[in-house]
Amino acid sequence: MTRILLLLDHGENQQLLAGELAERHEVLVGHTEADLDQDFDLCVVDGRSLDRLWEGVQRRKEREQPIFLPVLLATSRPGVKMITRQVWRSVDELIVTPIEKPELRARIQILLRARSLSLALRKRAEDAERAIRTRDEVLAIVSHDLRNPLNLVLTGGSFLLETAEGLEPREREQLRMIHRAAGQMNRLIQDLLEVSAMEAGNVSVDPRPEPAEPLVHEACGLLGHVAEAKGIRVSCELDDGLPPIRADRDRVHQVFGNLIGNALKFTPEGGTIRVRAEPDGGVVRFSVSDTGAGIRAEDLPHVFDRFWQARHSRAGGAGLGLAISRSIVAAHGGEMWVESEVGRGSTFFFTLPMVDRTQETRP
Ligand SMILES: Nc1ncnc2c1ncn2[C@@H]1O[C@H](COP(=O)(O)OP(=O)(O)O)[C@@H](O)[C@H]1O
Ligand SMILES: [Mg+2]
Repeated sequence: MTRILLLLDHGENQQLLAGELAERHEVLVGHTEADLDQDFDLCVVDGRSLDRLWEGVQRRKEREQPIFLPVLLATSRPGVKMITRQVWRSVDELIVTPIEKPELRARIQILLRARSLSLALRKRAEDAERAIRTRDEVLAIVSHDLRNPLNLVLTGGSFLLETAEGLEPREREQLRMIHRAAGQMNRLIQDLLEVSAMEAGNVSVDPRPEPAEPLVHEACGLLGHVAEAKGIRVSCELDDGLPPIRADRDRVHQVFGNLIGNALKFTPEGGTIRVRAEPDGGVVRFSVSDTGAGIRAEDLPHVFDRFWQARHSRAGGAGLGLAISRSIVAAHGGEMWVESEVGRGSTFFFTLPMVDRTQETRP
């Protein structure tokens, strides 16, 4: 049953209203700010009570947010003019007394309907959050348990490829395919484990002073053979005299691998991928640009969400690369963002801190 709190200074009105509402609702009667702490679905207040209690009413409404807690003001015609702008902010609906009973009932029903919609929305949001948590737990358990048997397939495959003699070419090709597929599965599982570690706030990075140039050169070489096979040019643009940065080499390679991998995936033949590095304040800003399909403006806020992929872009992958990359960069104290225009291409940026000389020389 819905609960209605009456905050009315006028005793007679209070009795009348309480009597009228008690048939369909549970009626609570209050006079002080403390009475607002109770659980209720609608508050009916008169001008004088609101004058005294409007700050308390406002606080109570704010505490309930984002759920809607309606407040209905019942006041006489002259009373309406007395109410200040501040006080209006805590009111959702007004009835001018004296009022006909059917109108009162209708106003209350309308407000309670909005309240119940708002509660239903919260329940849906909670259900969705619970489903996501369960999905993540299951994924973490499954990935963890798949790791060992899969490693067995991988090492067994490598061993056979290196040592098996007298294999027919077709047998060898089959073996290679099994090995490659196991490698793909392994990478996916690594990503899933990484994402669950990330969710738990455990992104492990071990930043050390590193020169920036080799990092970029290695990144450009990383997928050079794939680029060549796809007829895509990779260009490497470095500012002279880049300062050293604090970076975990393997982790930065992982970030570049994801960005360049995406650029290759979403750029058609004849396109260009540019990898750049330039100093900017206390950081070095790295970027990977492509001349590919680009990302729609409404999709841009989502690209770093885990498991997110643009519609029609499911060209392999699980939508984890960018989420992982951004958390790796954040664990370095850097930032990652994207600029893109449909049909023109995308540029992903990330920053890594320069080596702080003052810290280095400190004993
Ligand atoms: N360079 C790019 N050009 C166009 N779209 C991109 C690019 N990089 C990422 N995206 C979009 O962002 C999504 C998420 O990327 P990512 O997290 O790396 O996952 P995945 O590569 O597994 O799809 C991609 O599926 C794609 O829709
Ligand atoms: Mg990717």
